[in-house]
Amino acid sequence: MSKYRIGWLPGDGVGNDVMEAGKIILDKINLNAEYIPGDVGWKFWCKEGNPLPQRTIDMLKTVDCTLFGAITSKPKEEAEKELAPELQNKGYVYSSPIVRLRQLFNLYINQRPCKAYPGNPLVYREDINLIIFRENTEGLYSGIEYHPLPDEIYYALIKTHPKMKKFSEIPQKDLALSCRIFSREACRKIVKSAFKYADEHNCPSVTVIEKPNVIRETSGLMIREARKVAQDYPHIPLWEVNVDAMAMWLIKNPQKYSVLVTSNMFGDIISDLSAQLVGGLGFASSGNIGDNFALFEPTHGSAPKYAGQYKVNPTAMILSIKMMLEYLGEIELANKLENAVAETIREGKVRTYDLGGNFSTLEMAEEIASKI
Ligand code: IPM
Ligand code: MG
Repeated sequence: MSKYRIGWLPGDGVGNDVMEAGKIILDKINLNAEYIPGDVGWKFWCKEGNPLPQRTIDMLKTVDCTLFGAITSKPKEEAEKELAPELQNKGYVYSSPIVRLRQLFNLYINQRPCKAYPGNPLVYREDINLIIFRENTEGLYSGIEYHPLPDEIYYALIKTHPKMKKFSEIPQKDLALSCRIFSREACRKIVKSAFKYADEHNCPSVTVIEKPNVIRETSGLMIREARKVAQDYPHIPLWEVNVDAMAMWLIKNPQKYSVLVTSNMFGDIISDLSAQLVGGLGFASSGNIGDNFALFEPTHGSAPKYAGQYKVNPTAMILSIKMMLEYLGEIELANKLENAVAETIREGKVRTYDLGGNFSTLEMAEEIASKI
């Protein structure tokens, strides 16, 4: 069998620490793979004015899938200040490399499991088993934003929309606009992937999370597509819940939910909330999946203050590797790896600082590796 080719993108901060932990696991399972390193992150923004250089994109076009550590993102003004002096005021604009990768490779599914492993002292309840399907390429992440509002947009809105009247007295320089664009196709595809998953894994329900009572057009489109897709799966109930209520229900009765599906920004928020229910971001894995490519990453950020200290919990990265193995069709290896994670948590002997222990990132990975 030919070797897998896997992109290796540690990125910033603790991204490197957890990728090293991941390598311990991959070496232990002896995956027949070659890992191809790529440049991405803050360093490359500062030095080159581009946190995702073209050479990295070209490399990613040649691999089966990629692992990704973490990335540091900063707001516009701060980012510009940190550019190399010779690059300043030359029109370089920072944009998040992970958001770009999701869009460039059309990784339209962001799959985020949040499962409680018994024995973890940080979980809310041991019977939580959620998986979020977050639309990953559009919505409020479309990147179509304006400030100030340019003439053609401003006057077109005034001409065509009665609700613009209120804003027509405000100078354009004092107006900012971010577009929440949904396409029918993306709505259909994310809901379809959620139902397909629910069907294949015998999940009891699919919950679509939006806010159609206020955001009528975009949320409305998602809900209507969800109802259509649900007709192909009459044995799986579709629940419709508003995003604000969902935040409450997830705290109150998280064990009642199973597969959750939503748009980009709501998914971003709901997935952090759900991660906390099962022990925090140290346990939250994710897969950005498209038709021909996928990128697996822990949901946590780069935590600059812990960078290089090998303190953070490697579980989110290791469970992301489990998701990658499933994507590659290595189901048996994926199951073995998950069992080793569950066993390590159940025993509770080797714990990183977030779990109240003082073992390092790499020691916890070694412990998991020893149980595979
Ligand atoms: C996530 C992160 C990213 C997002 C950031 C780093 C751009 O919060 O993966 O959830 O907003 O999608
Ligand atoms: Mg997030």
